[in-house]
Amino acid sequence: MPESRVQRPRRFLVCEPRHFAVQYAINPWMHPDAHVDVDLAQEQWQSLISAYRTHGHTVDSVEPVPGLPDMVFAANSAVVVGGRVLGSLFHAPERRLEAVHYDSWFKTAGYDVHRPEAVCEGEGDLVWTGRYLLAGTGFRTARDAHREAQEFFGHPVISLTLVDPYFYHLDTALFVLDDRDDSNANNIVYYPEAFSAGSREVLARLYPDAVLATRDDAMAFGLNSVSDGRHVFIAPAAEVLADRLAGHGYVPVPVDLSEFHKAGGGIKCCTQEIRS
Ligand code: ARG
Repeated sequence: MPESRVQRPRRFLVCEPRHFAVQYAINPWMHPDAHVDVDLAQEQWQSLISAYRTHGHTVDSVEPVPGLPDMVFAANSAVVVGGRVLGSLFHAPERRLEAVHYDSWFKTAGYDVHRPEAVCEGEGDLVWTGRYLLAGTGFRTARDAHREAQEFFGHPVISLTLVDPYFYHLDTALFVLDDRDDSNANNIVYYPEAFSAGSREVLARLYPDAVLATRDDAMAFGLNSVSDGRHVFIAPAAEVLADRLAGHGYVPVPVDLSEFHKAGGGIKCCTQEIRS
């Protein structure tokens, strides 16, 4: 019998997709002539927010800004650990202004925001495990930003190289199941082929019991999931992965964000966690 998993209530920051669109192409998922159903996108996003609230999580939101169609992807605009906020510097000029609006939200909420000097895309590439930050590079966040993050947070930062353009952010290839540092439940899920050979070895050494995902799960945005330690908010098409997680005692909560996949984003991309 798998052990019973323990949920910890989270505080999430999100941004309503009022101005969501696919207007430029900065990853292989984006095709500006593809049709985006904006009403369906709104409905799907609302279902994510209700799923979070139903499961006991707090959800705060940033006011969306016209002309910033990717602003719904809240995960990219900061990473917050122990009440310290590292803001973002986007790779794509089209997204640079988003950081300004998130920074002001944090300032109004009483946080100081540290602005990185190198390209740094928040939780898209910097993933808190409860022990250290796993940090992606290769497509977006620069290695220099990993050093800045280590200096700023005072937690070890482990650099991992991404090699497949479909998995351009670390949070499209890996997520944390349980971030309790003092527990042997501390574990992750990842898709090995998204990483360089050396980074795969690093992950295998750090997480010998990790749950591994298939390419189909990864292409279905199954690695762009959010876990609260017990419930895993996951794309419904990632069926193999959902079964594996259930076998490990987690409870998959399917939430379909298919309209956002057209921009290269899913559940985690729409969700920033504020760890105070
Ligand atoms: N269109 C956005 C981009 O390419 C999607 C961001 C998805 N966010 C994420 N955390 N992976 O930047």
